Amino acid sequence: MVEAILLVGGKGTRLRPLTVNTPKPMLEVAGVPFLSHQLARAKAAGVDRIVFATAYRPDVFEEYFGDGSAFGLELDYVTETEPMGTGGAIRNVADRLRTAPDEPVLIFNGDILSGVDLVALVEAHRARQADVTLHLTCVAREKLSAFGLVPTDADGWVTAFREKPQRAEDIVTDQINAGCYVFRRSIIDGIPADRPVSVERETFPGLLEAGANLLGVVEQSYWRDLGTPEAFVHGSADLVLGAIESAAIPATTRADLADALVLPGADLDIDVKVGGGSTVGARARIASGAEVTGSVIGEGAHIEAGAVVRDSIVGRGASVGAGTVLDGVVIGDGARVGARNELRGGARVWCDVVLGDGAVRFSADES
Ligand code: GTP
Repeated sequence: MVEAILLVGGKGTRLRPLTVNTPKPMLEVAGVPFLSHQLARAKAAGVDRIVFATAYRPDVFEEYFGDGSAFGLELDYVTETEPMGTGGAIRNVADRLRTAPDEPVLIFNGDILSGVDLVALVEAHRARQADVTLHLTCVAREKLSAFGLVPTDADGWVTAFREKPQRAEDIVTDQINAGCYVFRRSIIDGIPADRPVSVERETFPGLLEAGANLLGVVEQSYWRDLGTPEAFVHGSADLVLGAIESAAIPATTRADLADALVLPGADLDIDVKVGGGSTVGARARIASGAEVTGSVIGEGAHIEAGAVVRDSIVGRGASVGAGTVLDGVVIGDGARVGARNELRGGARVWCDVVLGDGAVRFSADES
């Protein structure tokens, strides 16, 4: 038996207003809640039991995944009364684990889309007798300050942790913590209980200081943190376009649209252009002449005639008026954007907000 912990208690503030009603890991990516892809990958790697560490909107997870039997997994849920941080959340589920003290437990951040070879990660952990093994991936230098840097020595042992470094002298490697770990179970039991703990800022540096064996496995398979709207639409498109495989992607109802995923009940007029890895949700409507590229159109949303939607997320039941242009925008659930508006570059329309016809020409980048 291989057990895993899924960290899914974050508030997902960077994805508001989409996360006002739905926790980030439950937002639909390529037609299903994001976690469906992670669960399918974990199951394929031999994981058979997963404990969800929840805090924000915990009910949404259990309502969808239940006891896991429909997904071929055994699932359990533990909810924090106060968010305990990543390390506190791991510790908080310890008494639900069945893994023996010396055996490995996999731990995943709930917002990472990754093709990492989980079997190889656990094998490396066992073979090297590590206390903790971290998946590391390399990113471009200009992006490094947004991540936790993890330099390693020639044998792969971790030598330091530099969380979101701002000073040039702290940019000591291009290897970052990819949010997927293997822990010796007894290490989990050693995290302080009953107070918030950050695994990145406290547990890992503390273990290193105490002389624990922390192994870094650098693997450059597909990797994306879906925490921002831009990453979210790109991750969804990558799944639809097959840049990363997932057994959880539902069948499209429009095999003729090779670059799109169209879910059951969606209604597309004959002359629409839908592609670039877009997903059109169940019962959504796309009217004549509209163009949808690289976007996620939520369940029951309406895109009216001649509208152009690029690299954007349109929430459930939202509507986009005729001739409106959206580019790199988030429209919250139930919002109504009238005709002939233009919204670009990171603009967000809150849930249920109504924008009239010709009301806005806005680019968040220029504001
Ligand atoms: P932002 O608010 O947009 O930064 O998103 P977030 O709240 O999800 O935070 P972040 O992306 O840093 O979290 C990384 C992972 O840890 C995500 O899968 C979160 O769901 C999870 N996480 C963060 N804090 C907690 C917590 O206090 N409890 C639990 N159970 N999970 C957490």
